[in-house]
Amino acid sequence: MNIESLKLPEIKVPEHPRWPTLSEQEKQQLKQQIRDKLHQQKAVIVAHYYTDPELQALAEETGGCVADSLEMARFGTQQEAQTLVVCGVRFMGETSKILNPEKRVIMPDLNATCSLDEGCPADLFSTFCDAHPEHTVVVYANTSAEVKARSDWVVTSGIAMPIVEHLAAKGEKILWGPDRHLGSYVQRVTGADMLMWPGSCVVHEEFKAVALERIRRLHPDAAVLVHPESPENVIQQADVIGSTTALIKAVANMDNQEFIVATDGGIFYKMQQMAPEKTLIEAPTAGEGATCVSCAHCPWMGMNALQNLNQVLESGANQIEIDPGIREQAVIPIQRMLDFAAHQGIGMRNKGDA
Ligand code: 13P
Ligand code: SF4
Repeated sequence: MNIESLKLPEIKVPEHPRWPTLSEQEKQQLKQQIRDKLHQQKAVIVAHYYTDPELQALAEETGGCVADSLEMARFGTQQEAQTLVVCGVRFMGETSKILNPEKRVIMPDLNATCSLDEGCPADLFSTFCDAHPEHTVVVYANTSAEVKARSDWVVTSGIAMPIVEHLAAKGEKILWGPDRHLGSYVQRVTGADMLMWPGSCVVHEEFKAVALERIRRLHPDAAVLVHPESPENVIQQADVIGSTTALIKAVANMDNQEFIVATDGGIFYKMQQMAPEKTLIEAPTAGEGATCVSCAHCPWMGMNALQNLNQVLESGANQIEIDPGIREQAVIPIQRMLDFAAHQGIGMRNKGDA
């Protein structure tokens, strides 16, 4: 079966949400209300590095976490908290619920999705898998619970490489979905036999190779940090290619004073916190006059703000629910990834880590 014969959905990218500006006093009041509710409800915030810096700071200050998607998945399983407030995109909330069915998992906005998830509908993906039964199905975490339920392994950007290496060493053929850029990068490095689903991240797809070359010439001593959801000609210019955590660690640990960063701008908050003396430069996107997706800020991540975080704690709405049959299937490949990570010591947090 040819992937071109599947009619894939068109991705509708929302406008970047514009939240009303809060005065310092309003912000402090809102934060205090959130702190109180978290305490009363035995709740913790599990936030991604791409969310609003105010949320990231509040998550850390209140005993929650700010992390990449691998660590976000793991963090919830290690908590006594009864409620996980996932500030990120929907697949992150779903993964938390799949791993913690007894906990309440809520999100500020359930419309916060991801172009990779949207571009990989479970029925079409399943048809593709059925047509290639001899392949091991490896899916990126940025997928629905249903797609995960159809897979053999779930991976995040932080662990995709060693898992594919492990499978390739056993001679397994891989059906990979949905991010074609991450998939091709892993394929180039490992040499694995991989069939690719043609998905992409609308944010990372916008980084431009020619403009990046120009910026590199202006900053010859800068290290180039690239998330592997970016196009191949951008990845090829990178000094470091890795998960959000890997890119933050690079800023903290490398000797360079300047860094050109090709990933969502939300990550600058943590990078700057880890290395305040270093200079961070945004990698170029489509530039002025281009659409919202080219601003290097994920519009779905932008749906998380102090205002709707407070509201959801107040109302208890926006709970993530997963069909029990799907959950039973989806937990297997996710747990396989976490067990592999634990066994290899991958992504385990050390004190002072990003
Ligand atoms: P990380 O797992 O590297 O945090 O990536 C998640 C993501 O959605 C990047 O766009
Ligand atoms: Fe999805 Fe891209 Fe947004 Fe990450 S940045 S959540 S991959 S759309």
